[in-house]
Amino acid sequence: MSKVLGLFLVAIFSIAYTQLVNGHSLRGCQTRCGNVSIEYPFGISTGCYYAVHDSFNLTCNETTNELFFGNMQVVNYSHSGELRILMSRSFTCYNRTRVAETISYNTNLRSFTFSNKNRFTAVGCNTFAFMTTIFEDRNYSTGCLSTCDSIPKENGVCSGEGCCHTSVPKRSKRFIIRSSSFDRDASVNNFNPCSYAFLVEEGMFSFSPSQDLQNLRNFTKFPVVLDWSIGNQTCKQVGNTSICGQNSVCLDSTTRDGYNCKCKAGYDGNPYLQEGCQDINECTTSSAIHKHNCSGSSTCENMMGHFLCSCSSGFELNATTNGCMRKHKPVNTGWIPILLGTTVGFLAILLVVICVQQKMKHMKSIELRKQFFEQNGGGMLRLRLSGAGPSNVDVKIFTEEGMKEATNGYDESRILGQGGQGTVYKGILPDKSTEVPLLVYEFINSGTLYDRLHGSIISSLLCFYSNHPPRCQDC
Ligand SMILES: *[C@@H]1O[C@H](CO)[C@@H](O)[C@H](O)[C@H]1NC(C)=O
Ligand SMILES: *[C@@H]1O[C@H](CO)[C@@H](O)[C@H](O)[C@H]1NC(C)=O
Ligand SMILES: *[C@@H]1O[C@H](CO)[C@@H](O)[C@H](O)[C@H]1NC(C)=O
Ligand SMILES: *[C@@H]1O[C@H](CO)[C@@H](O)[C@H](O)[C@H]1NC(C)=O
Ligand SMILES: *[C@@H]1O[C@H](CO)[C@@H](O)[C@H](O)[C@H]1NC(C)=O
Ligand SMILES: *[C@@H]1O[C@H](CO)[C@@H](O)[C@H](O)[C@H]1NC(C)=O
Ligand SMILES: *[C@@H]1O[C@H](CO)[C@@H](O)[C@H](O)[C@H]1NC(C)=O
Ligand SMILES: *[C@@H]1O[C@H](CO)[C@@H](O)[C@H](O)[C@H]1NC(C)=O
Ligand SMILES: *[C@@H]1O[C@H](CO)[C@@H](O)[C@H](O)[C@H]1NC(C)=O
Ligand SMILES: *[C@@H]1O[C@H](CO)[C@@H](O)[C@H](O)[C@H]1NC(C)=O
Ligand SMILES: *[C@@H]1O[C@H](CO)[C@@H](O)[C@H](O)[C@H]1NC(C)=O
Repeated sequence: MSKVLGLFLVAIFSIAYTQLVNGHSLRGCQTRCGNVSIEYPFGISTGCYYAVHDSFNLTCNETTNELFFGNMQVVNYSHSGELRILMSRSFTCYNRTRVAETISYNTNLRSFTFSNKNRFTAVGCNTFAFMTTIFEDRNYSTGCLSTCDSIPKENGVCSGEGCCHTSVPKRSKRFIIRSSSFDRDASVNNFNPCSYAFLVEEGMFSFSPSQDLQNLRNFTKFPVVLDWSIGNQTCKQVGNTSICGQNSVCLDSTTRDGYNCKCKAGYDGNPYLQEGCQDINECTTSSAIHKHNCSGSSTCENMMGHFLCSCSSGFELNATTNGCMRKHKPVNTGWIPILLGTTVGFLAILLVVICVQQKMKHMKSIELRKQFFEQNGGGMLRLRLSGAGPSNVDVKIFTEEGMKEATNGYDESRILGQGGQGTVYKGILPDKSTEVPLLVYEFINSGTLYDRLHGSIISSLLCFYSNHPPRCQDC
């Protein structure tokens, strides 16, 4: 019982252990074979590859350090669903007109299929080659032929003279490749003893007539691209049961059934592992594809899945160049006119208020003078002067303007003396009408004589104009 439990625990432990990631493959799994790295879902030992079908089971020949998919050597593979392998050529050689040797290949791609990036190619004069595609319910063949009686002049082109090629049917899995010949004569055997047929990735074979018709430059294997995917269902059908990890997306295979995984933009790694896709630090990466494009004085800041270009204060980012530029002028100078306008407006209002105040003060002072004039018996004085009352009083009323004129604007040179009750000026009347000195009493500005003697609230509140010409600034 305890033995069973122990085995059970070991099994659980090994499952948990292999699920922990180690870079691009599951932890505890071999990550390299020779020059080729091994990444999940591929693997070379049980528990290391995606086991739902056997297609991802690779083998590593420890003596030659070569990775194999079945009997075909693996060159490399991509997460997007391509597996590049080396496949042997098929050939038939002739001893004069008789067949001396024939080798043809029957490939088994397990669940994978040939990519339409491949070309089925035949090399030889008076040669035909065909491939038979084997499906469960039907077989069919296609191929090409070429004839010639001498070595073609043109180099590099597989145009039908000594070399022909055709495209590969989509989704084909199993091929039988055969090369053959017709109307073989001895003259052709001299420069072309064999007929060849092979699959090769487009662009990976350039026909060289003089060498290739002789022995195909000793090439025995050619790179071939296979398409692979997970399962035979679409992303929608598998939903969240897909094996695509965090920060990756599920993509339906464009070349066959099933799906592939891809790291989201800004992430890199193996999308088939739970934590395989890791954030790319665009700010520090040496990869030219992922490197940030913050330019000039902007500094790069790495974020999960992307990066930001930031600028120091007072600067802002120009989205078209990703460089920094000074913040917009209108933003910077916008408050200056406002401040200026406010200040000017305030000053103008202040000025208006002051002027109005002065004007009112002036009016008030005129009003007061009138009032004092009346209080001091000005009315009666006027009446007397007009001759209505007893006219034995010799009184004359001077206006302020008249006084100003007579004293030459209260000039200091005209001061005769100064006393407690005011200043005595020497006045000269404009018409020089009198030789007799006159006492002019300024009784209007200074209130009544009573106020002068006893003081009053008004006199202490009002300006005291007696000594100086009335100037409102003195208040
Ligand atoms: C590994 O790569 C080097 C250089 O590309 C090459 O010379 C060598 O043959 C390769 N080894 C294997 C086992 O493929
Ligand atoms: C994996 O492939 C190798 C050789 O192709 C084979 O010997 C082995 O049994 C396979 N493993 C499984 C689990 O099918
Ligand atoms: C590894 O390759 C060598 C040389 O091709 C061969 O003799 C040997 O049998 C291979 N080993 C395996 C395990 O396939
Ligand atoms: C795979 O190998 C081919 C041919 O050697 C090469 O052109 C391609 O860049 C390689 N791809 C990767 C992902 O290494
Ligand atoms: C042609 O083939 C026969 C028998 O297979 C052999 O005896 C003969 O030497 C060959 N001739 C040449 C020129 O290879
Ligand atoms: C297709 O070819 C294979 C191999 O030659 C053969 O076993 C199979 O019976 C053929 N299928 C049909 C439907 O002819
Ligand atoms: C092809 O191989 C033969 C013998 O194996 C050799 O003599 C010849 O020089 C080789 N040709 C090229 C182009 O490598
Ligand atoms: C999908 O694959 C499973 C197992 O690999 C198989 O049983 C099923 O028939 C396949 N379905 C289709 C539509 O090919
Ligand atoms: C998958 O989605 C279903 C519903 O859409 C949900 O009930 C289930 O918990 C999800 N499983 C996981 C592993 O997220
Ligand atoms: C960004 O810089 C370009 C080139 O210097 C300039 O033409 C463009 O007006 C700038 N964009 C802004 C919003 O200033
Ligand atoms: C900078 O790179 C991002 C993608 O990383 C691109 O969207 C943007 O247009 C690029 N900006 C400049 C100015 O090259």
